[in-house]
Amino acid sequence: MRDYVTWHEEYDDPTSGLSWRLSRVRDHIGEFLDRTAGQSVTAVSLCAGDGRDLIAVLAPREDAGRVAATLVELNPELADRARVTAQGLPVHVITADAGDPAVYVGLVPADLVVMVGIFGNISDPDLQGLIRSAPAFCRPGATLIWSRGRDDDIHDLNDQVRDWFAQSGFAEIAYEERDTPDRPSMGVVRYEGEPMELDPTRRLFTFIR
Ligand SMILES: C[S@@+](CC[C@H](N)C(=O)[O-])C[C@H]1O[C@@H](n2cnc3c(N)ncnc32)[C@H](O)[C@@H]1O
Repeated sequence: MRDYVTWHEEYDDPTSGLSWRLSRVRDHIGEFLDRTAGQSVTAVSLCAGDGRDLIAVLAPREDAGRVAATLVELNPELADRARVTAQGLPVHVITADAGDPAVYVGLVPADLVVMVGIFGNISDPDLQGLIRSAPAFCRPGATLIWSRGRDDDIHDLNDQVRDWFAQSGFAEIAYEERDTPDRPSMGVVRYEGEPMELDPTRRLFTFIR
C-alpha cells in the first residue's frame, strides 16, 4: 500500500486536485450541517486520513456539539494527527480497519457518511459491494459523500458508480468534476431506501494501492 502520510502532502499545494476535492467536500459537509440545523446528528468517515475535511468544518461552528462524529483510519500516525486536531470537538477517532464490518457496531446507521478517497483504491467488485452495503451505513434521509478520481491510473467508472448508488436507493444531490489532468471528482447522495443491516460476515473492501 502507498505511504499515505506522504500522500497527504499534496494538500500543501492549494492548486492540486486534492485541494479542490477537499474544498468541495468541506462545502458539502457544511451544507449537510446547515440542512440539519438544530438536530443531533451522527457522522462516520471511513478511511478518514487525518480528518481534515470533517474536523475543519466542525471546528469553527458554534453548533458542533450536536454532531457525534467518528473517524475510522488504519494508519496510526494519521489517526493520531486527527485526534490532536479534533481536540475539544465531538470527534472520536478509531485506529482500525474500515473494511471490517465489526468496526461499525453502534456507529451506523449514521446521518452523514463520508467515503472519500476510497473508491479509486479498491477493486471494482469491492467497489460495487461497498455501494451495495452503503444503505446499511445510512439512516433513511442520510447524506453520503463519495469521491473517485478519473486519472490515468484508474479507468473512469463514475457513471457506473452513480448508477450503482441509484440502484441501492440513493438520490443524487450533487456530482462534481474538475477537468485538470488529475481529473478529480466527487458526489453527494441521499439515502431514500429502507433501513438495512450491515452483514457482519462480509468484508467490505481491501485497499489495493
Ligand atoms: C486516499 S486517502 C484518503 C484520506 C481522506 N479520506 C482524505 O480524503 O483526505 C486513503 C486513506 O485510507 C486509509 N486506509 C487504507 N486502508 C484502510 C483500511 N482498511 N481501513 C482504514 N483506513 C484505511 C489510508 O491510510 C489513507 O489515510
